[in-house]
Amino acid sequence: MTVLIFGAKGYLGQAFLTVYPDAVTTNADIADSQAVAHVLDEVKPTVVINTAGKTGRPNIDWCEEHKMETVRSNVTGPLVLLEECAKRGIYWVNLGSGCIYEGDNDGRGCSEEDPPNFSGSFYSRTKQWIDRILKEFPVLVLRLRMPFDGSANPRNLITKISGYSRVLDVPNSITYLPDFLTASSELIEKGKTGLYNIVNPGVISPYRIMQIYKEIVNPAHAFERLTIEEMPQVARAGRSNCILSGKKLEAEGIRMRPVGEAVTEALKRLKEG
Ligand SMILES: NC(=O)c1ccc[n+]([C@@H]2O[C@H](COP(=O)([O-])OP(=O)(O)OC[C@H]3O[C@@H](n4cnc5c(N)ncnc54)[C@H](OP(=O)(O)O)[C@@H]3O)[C@@H](O)[C@H]2O)c1
Repeated sequence: MTVLIFGAKGYLGQAFLTVYPDAVTTNADIADSQAVAHVLDEVKPTVVINTAGKTGRPNIDWCEEHKMETVRSNVTGPLVLLEECAKRGIYWVNLGSGCIYEGDNDGRGCSEEDPPNFSGSFYSRTKQWIDRILKEFPVLVLRLRMPFDGSANPRNLITKISGYSRVLDVPNSITYLPDFLTASSELIEKGKTGLYNIVNPGVISPYRIMQIYKEIVNPAHAFERLTIEEMPQVARAGRSNCILSGKKLEAEGIRMRPVGEAVTEALKRLKEG
């Protein structure tokens, strides 16, 4: 299997490199069809993983002010990959986001069949536009939410929220990166296509994570509780709060560990450094 990774310098690109250390990486602009065609013809990959995209720095509020760059990387780029991979019969994978939903779908969790119901940020809108197109084609779309691990990477959810003085207390589905990578590589090995929610079973709020952080990592850590009503005081664009269904993944025989267990493991790793 020859794996080619676009956007490999990013948080998720680096994570995929731990699973596919022999993967070929490229800095080619995914929205540049000539550049993409050139790399595909040179590398002749059997699998393309697209981890390129704009998520904004320091957060998705950036995308509100940079719509052109965001649409270029999150919509035009994947469309170029769709066409160039299809021309060559190459299997490919795009990274989706669960941040296109709001709520828990009357307790059932939002499934891959449910139409997106959160449009509160430009970032979320670009992610739902491209999902709607890709689901019509034989592409694997991995939908994760607020990825976290035991690293000090600034993109890690735990690192991010440990820098906040006020932390949101709304339960959410989240994704432990080691479990995400195992699940993703199993889907890729099976050559699966379509949308897949990849989240750990159960829910937890960022505030609760910080309470456990205090117990495991730093008893002196100080933070306050932020309610959903207070959220507009600290964020420009809307933020999705949702619970996703993991049933489709489970039906493949792929199990993610319960979210509480995953958070504890990540925090212990963070403490160990
Ligand atoms: N992190 C999350 O919370 C999260 C959650 C769900 C889904 N995702 C999805 O996962 C993907 C990767 O996210 P990430 O967290 O790894 O982001 P990241 O750390 O910012 O990495 C993305 C990488 O892609 C590069 N890039 C941007 N536009 C590009 C283009 N047109 N052509 C080639 N490379 C380009 C970026 O370079 P520059 O820095 O120079 O722009 C960066 O190196 C995105 O599609 C994102 O929507 C992320």
